[in-house]
Amino acid sequence: MTAMREILRSDRLVLREITVADLPALERIFGDPLCMRHYPSVKDGAATRDFFERLAFGSYEKNGFGLWAMIDRRSGDLLGDCGITLQETSSRTEPEIGYHLWRDHWGKGYATEAATACRDHAFSVMGLSRIVSIVSLENLPSQKVAERVHQRREIFSKQNAAGETVERYLYISEKTSGT
Ligand SMILES: CC(C)(COP(=O)(O)OP(=O)(O)OC[C@H]1O[C@@H](n2cnc3c(N)ncnc32)[C@H](O)[C@@H]1OP(=O)(O)O)[C@@H](O)C(=O)NCCC(=O)NCCS
Repeated sequence: MTAMREILRSDRLVLREITVADLPALERIFGDPLCMRHYPSVKDGAATRDFFERLAFGSYEKNGFGLWAMIDRRSGDLLGDCGITLQETSSRTEPEIGYHLWRDHWGKGYATEAATACRDHAFSVMGLSRIVSIVSLENLPSQKVAERVHQRREIFSKQNAAGETVERYLYISEKTSGT
């Protein structure tokens, strides 16, 4: 058995690299209409596997980071994913913190805890000087998380998969000397 690579720990959580054994639990999240309420559609199993092939396995190889499994340290259960991927923003491609939790685990501050740990990891371990989160204008729970994690917010326009122009919030954290 290959050891699972642990990335970081916070009070209640471990973030570690995702493995193929995690895919059924992640497929449940991405196939659930409530969890995907602020996305264009739910993803079936194949689309979820493609998504993690690109943003987890492929990204680990190419960039050394990606979406990671969010594990409850006490129970060992997978609560969702949280991690850092390269995303298009207004004028560049840049590292972004994203998070998705199974709905039974909402409202307990897990996304805030995991995303804060990713921000600190980005600055102190990865040596980044800026990290962002992209959130849709309707996704209030995610905005609450991003407000706690980041320093300021802008708005930008991007093309969605259907070629339409859509607006997104861009939450930004920048490393200051002393951070
Ligand atoms: C966005 C998400 C990750 C937030 O995770 P979380 O761990 O619940 O975050 P928090 O516990 O810090 O709560 C954040 C806000 O979520 C909202 N929230 C909490 N429990 C909720 C529930 N059961 N139902 C709806 N909203 C809820 C609250 O507005 C809360 O803000 P508050 O602290 O002012 O009450 C989670 O809702 C989720 O996985 N959503 C689906 C995927 C998604 O949209 N990801 C973000 C893409 S940008």
